[in-house]
Order: sequence, then C-alpha cells, then structure tokens
Amino acid sequence: MIDIPDRKEKKTSALPLSKKRLAALFTISQKINSINTIKELLHEIVNIVITNLEAERGLIILTDIRGEELHVVASESFSDRSLSFSRSIVKTVLDRDQTVKSADLTKDAQFKNIKSAHDLNILSFICVPLKIVGEERPLGTLYIDQRIHKKIFTDEDVLFLESIANLAAIAINNTSLMEKLRTERVQLLEEVGKKYSLAEIIGQGKAMQKILAVMRLIINDDSTVLLTGESGTGKEVIARAMHFSSIRKDKPFIAINCGALPETLLETELFGSVRGAFTGAVDKQGLLQSAQSGTVFLDEIHHTSEAMQVKLLRFLQEREVRRVGGTKSVRVDVRLICASNEDLQKAVNDDKFRKDFFYRINIVTVNVPPLREHKEDIPLLAEHFLHKYCQEKNKKCHGFSKEALSALVEYDWADNNVRELENEIERLSVFMKNGATVELEDLAQKIQHKTSALEKRFDIISTALSFADLEKKYIRQVIEQAKGNKAKAARIMGIPRSTLQGKMKKLKLK
Ligand SMILES: Nc1ncnc2c1ncn2[C@@H]1O[C@H](COP(=O)(O)OP(=O)(O)O)[C@@H](O)[C@H]1O
Ligand SMILES: [Mg+2]
Repeated sequence: MIDIPDRKEKKTSALPLSKKRLAALFTISQKINSINTIKELLHEIVNIVITNLEAERGLIILTDIRGEELHVVASESFSDRSLSFSRSIVKTVLDRDQTVKSADLTKDAQFKNIKSAHDLNILSFICVPLKIVGEERPLGTLYIDQRIHKKIFTDEDVLFLESIANLAAIAINNTSLMEKLRTERVQLLEEVGKKYSLAEIIGQGKAMQKILAVMRLIINDDSTVLLTGESGTGKEVIARAMHFSSIRKDKPFIAINCGALPETLLETELFGSVRGAFTGAVDKQGLLQSAQSGTVFLDEIHHTSEAMQVKLLRFLQEREVRRVGGTKSVRVDVRLICASNEDLQKAVNDDKFRKDFFYRINIVTVNVPPLREHKEDIPLLAEHFLHKYCQEKNKKCHGFSKEALSALVEYDWADNNVRELENEIERLSVFMKNGATVELEDLAQKIQHKTSALEKRFDIISTALSFADLEKKYIRQVIEQAKGNKAKAARIMGIPRSTLQGKMKKLKLK
C-alpha cells in the first residue's frame, strides 16, 4: 500500500531521531560548511543516507522548472551498478510535493500499473521532495530503494530523510543562486567594462590623446593619480576608465565626493565605525575597505579638512585602515585616484591645503583641459551625445546642420564643459522631431548668439593665445580706446600707471 505520511500529525507528535541519526545530521550540516563543490556534498549526503537507513540504493534527482526533465546528480548503490529509477515515482512526488513511501511495491495498488517500477524490480522505497520555501515546485527528490532484500522503511526513516532533504535543498539552492549571481556579475562587469573603457572616451584631438597616452602608461601602476581640471571636463570618466581598463577591473570602483559630506560622516564613510564609538555609531565597514583590491575615486579632494588630510596621508603611507572607535587595523590594497577643480598648488601656497598630503597625491598629475581648449572634439562629442539620447528616446537622428555644429564649436562651455554640452544635447533631443536634423534655432539662445563683442575682439578662444599675447592684445586695445593716453588707459585697467609702464616694457610694447 502506498503510504503518504500525514504532515500535520507528524508536527504534533514529532518522532524522535536516534542518536546515530542525529549524529549523521550533524555530520551533514558540518560538511555543508566545509565541502567545496556541491557535487561532492551531494554524494556525501547520499552515502550517509544509505549507510544510515541500510538502503541498497540512493539517488538525488533534480528537475527543471516545469518538472519535466530529470537528472541524476548524485547516486550510490550497495547492491548493483544499475542506477535506473522509476520516473513515475519521482514525478508523483514532484507533482504532489509530498513524500511517498511504499513498504511493498509488489502489492501496492497505486503503482500496480507502473511498469517501470516492476521492471526495475523495486521492492520498497522512500522518495522525498527537495523543497525550497517560497518556490512553487520542488527542486527534485531524494530517493532510496530496495531491490534485492525486502525492507520495511519506518516513519523514523522518513523523518530522517526529510531532514536531510531540507539541508540538501538549501545547499543546492544556494549553489545555483551563487552560480546565477556569478554569471550575472561576469556579464555585468563585461558590459560596464566596455562602457567605461579608455577606448570609449571621446577625444581625437591632441590634448585628449596626450592624456589617454599617459593613462595607458600608468594604468596598472598603483601610484596615486591626481586629476585636475574644471568641473565637467571628464575627470570622473577618466578615473572610471582607468579602473575598468586595469587589472583591478573585476574589483570595486567606489567614487566619493568629499564635498558632499560633513567631515565626521566622511570619516566614518571612508574608514568605517565601531558600534558605540559615538552616539548612534554602528558596526560598519568603511568604503576604503569595501573597495579592497579595487579603486577609490576621491572627488573634490580640496574640500577635505586638514584633519581628514592627515588621516588620508596616514592611510596612503601605511595602507591600513582603522575604524572610528576601533583598535584593530586592517591592510587595504586600493588604488587612489583624486580629483580637484581647484588649483591645489595655490591652495598649498595659501595654507589652505596640507603640503605633505599634496605631495603624497601629486605623484602623477593629469590636467584635464576645459572643453574650450579642445574644441576639435566638440563635433564628435555632440554626435555621440545626440546618438545616445536619441537611442534612449527611440528617435531617429540625422545629426546637426553645419550652422548648428559650428555654433556648438564656437560656444565656450565655460560653466560646465562636457557636462554642459551633454545637457544641451539631452535638452534638444527631448524636443527634436523623429528623424529631424538639429538646426541652429534648436539650440539654446545663448549658444546661437554666443560670440560676445569682447570675445570677438580678443578672439581668445579660437586662437588659444598665451597669457603674454593676451596681455599684449588687451593693453594695445585699451591704449587705442584711450587714444594713446597711458594715464587714462591705466585708469581703465584699474592699475597704477607705473605698473602699466612696467608691463609694456616687459612685453616690449611701445
Ligand atoms: N571625453 C569624454 N567622452 C565622453 N563623455 C564625456 C567625456 N568627458 C566628459 N564626458 C561626460 O560629461 C559628463 C561630465 O563628466 P565627469 O567625468 O563627471 O566630469 P568631472 O568629473 O570633471 O566633473 C559625464 O556625463 C560624462 O559622461
Ligand atoms: Mg565630477
């Protein structure tokens, strides 16, 4: 007679397991923690099961989402080498999601018509579903049987097998989740790596090519890099690209804006904290440690306080972090990339930034030029952003008209450089008709009418003058405006006449 144990009843009058079986369960729980591969673990489980239950054969069979395909993933047999099993028995257990036990299959009405069970000469068996809480179907079954000697499996045997099946199901589920996560992580890293590689940085002009060449040289060198340049010039893009093109690419890249957090918060964010160190302090790992083996990007480093600079300097020298309120130091291997849109050398001279810290981070310094100094890259950047936003908005785009493109090139983008250009293209892509070409009048007013009288006169941008040449041009213009009257010219300039004369002498101006 087929016997489906009553779960409700079992719960209230739980059968005690013998000491031997409790010891076996304990062994399995330990193995789960120590065996590396799931295959090894499942084999060990089947072994323990058939030894303890004195069964002839044991199998772990897994199924697919629909419960159609069955795969034996672990098996052991004391009686013979044949590991054929009855699919009908396994499917019954999977469909019912309940343990099925048969003391004597030859007399079992339920399995009377199951040819496979009889052909296989199965005398008695227990088949337990591998259940996962919250899953609709079991992952598979844990199965034992007798084919030679008749053996009546007891309710204690069922309880023991169900306990083991629970452990096996958790181990299988965790492994498959881990595998899924691992595969997803590899795919995501590949995608992110492609997106942020140095090759994706747009800059065909000399200035950007020079920067990229330096970056390639130091990519796998662990020295700290300092990126300087106005806001929106691409410092963070470069930092990210360095990380994702380096051997650290599979490890974390963590960016922290030092200006966005108050000092105490920045310290606990970077170094972590120990519970009770201060009111409300919790046990928390710092970002420097979380980025272990990866890269940390400290943006707006000029916003750090002197005390914070001392702490960071110590970290750079010792490569160890100690949590706020903690006593233990942990070795941390991260590459540091710092960025600042302020002149740090000047800040040091003005006593606003620590000299020792500046020299520690100023090992490889790369100055990212403002967009107006590499205008040759504007057409490529503009096309790139237009393509990106049109794709996002599912619109076809036909690029820019000649006039629109030259206005974009003419404009100085002094507020936010590449970011400003990107924002402008994103804005116009919202209003753009599907398949249209971007015309001059689609651009913001200020870009359409950029060239102010002053800029036209000095032509500062398009000819990239040196400071001395610019000064010369300026002095000439003002003297011309003052009709040759140097005292008046000096007044317009807001400098003493003697200073003007000194400058004119130095610049060899008559
Ligand atoms: N060379 C570049 N190629 C492609 N996009 C860029 C480039 N430089 C900057 N950008 C884009 O401009 C924006 C600002 O760049 P970001 O690196 O954040 O500037 P910064 O850190 O200097 O303030 C970002 O959206 C970035 O994607
Ligand atoms: Mg930035």
